[in-house]
Amino acid sequence: MIKLHDKYFKPFISAGEIEAAIDKMVVEIANDLGDEIPVFIGILNGSFMLTSDFVKKYPKPCEVTFIKLASYEGVKSSDDIQRLIGLTQDLTGRTVIILEDIIDTGKTLAEVNRIFENEKVKTLKIATLFYKPEAYKKDFKLHYIGIEIPNKFIVGYGLDYDNLGRDLPEVYQIKETQHMTNIVLFGPPGAGKGTQANFLKEKYNLVHISTGDVFRYNMKNDTALGMLAKSYIEKGALVPDQVTIDMLNAEVEKNADANGFIFDGFPRTTAQAEALNKLMDSKDSQINAMIALEVEDEVLVERLLKRGETSGRADDADESIIRNRLKVYYDETAVVSDFYSAQNKFIAVNGEGTIEDITERLSKVIDSL
Ligand code: IMP
Ligand code: MG
Repeated sequence: MIKLHDKYFKPFISAGEIEAAIDKMVVEIANDLGDEIPVFIGILNGSFMLTSDFVKKYPKPCEVTFIKLASYEGVKSSDDIQRLIGLTQDLTGRTVIILEDIIDTGKTLAEVNRIFENEKVKTLKIATLFYKPEAYKKDFKLHYIGIEIPNKFIVGYGLDYDNLGRDLPEVYQIKETQHMTNIVLFGPPGAGKGTQANFLKEKYNLVHISTGDVFRYNMKNDTALGMLAKSYIEKGALVPDQVTIDMLNAEVEKNADANGFIFDGFPRTTAQAEALNKLMDSKDSQINAMIALEVEDEVLVERLLKRGETSGRADDADESIIRNRLKVYYDETAVVSDFYSAQNKFIAVNGEGTIEDITERLSKVIDSL
């Protein structure tokens, strides 16, 4: 992973893959042109590396020149494409091959085509090393394409993010989410996960996702998700994994700019932990630690009954439901800690004492991550 200015990028296309793509373009173009002596025109700044590597590999005589058009500033497209600089050569009757580093929306290409309308070239062909088909909005034919890529911002091999990254010999892709600290807050019902998460999210500017809270919100508002969840939660059983994962995915996506997440009440099974890893992976992120709050059973029952007096939660009011929730926790959920232990990500914290003391203990752990 690399950082340019404020953004993180991950390795995407290796120098070897780039070279293979250029080799392929060289062969195609050389075959098509035969003994014609082409003028290769690189579009600065982005295609300086491509142009250099390309003409070194080109097997026959050729001419090389560059033109420059102002293109994107940073990540976002700017609407004003400025004037063309550098076309001083008479190209009348010549076979011209434009060498582009990347074709995104095609706006730059439209400008190139517009400029060449006035030149009496014999043929004008477009070759681009990278091409984003999902972003391309024009009809101009692209004669030679090196590598098709998804519509995500890349840097390296001539391409920049605010002028950094052009020098990299390989290509990096912007990370889906930026640098995050993601924590699974773990422990039996009544351990104080929700209470502590509320302090920690303020302190570390994290987004707190309590699957239970999201379900309760949906149940209260009688959404489809809520009705479905209700049938399980009222019995003290677990909601099926896929339902929960879909919901989490939506919550993570809503907060893609966050510093990180505190997952509270999830994962509760190894399958869920695996699904969560996959989810974080798909966001170019990871779970940094599972922090478990450890509390004696009798303290838990006492805490939950007390909460039941005011929370209005049906599953807090009845001691037998509480004991069943604890049993589910020990039978089905506690094993999840093994999953994180195996990855050296499990950290146990004493969950008894004052709220402040426990926050203090948790903060020490988070600071050490
Ligand atoms: P287009 O005019 O939208 O096709 O974009 C072409 C220009 O935008 C390129 O020459 C680049 O300067 C810039 N650009 C488009 N996509 C990227 C990218 O993923 N990384 C870096 N620059 C890009
Ligand atoms: Mg360019």
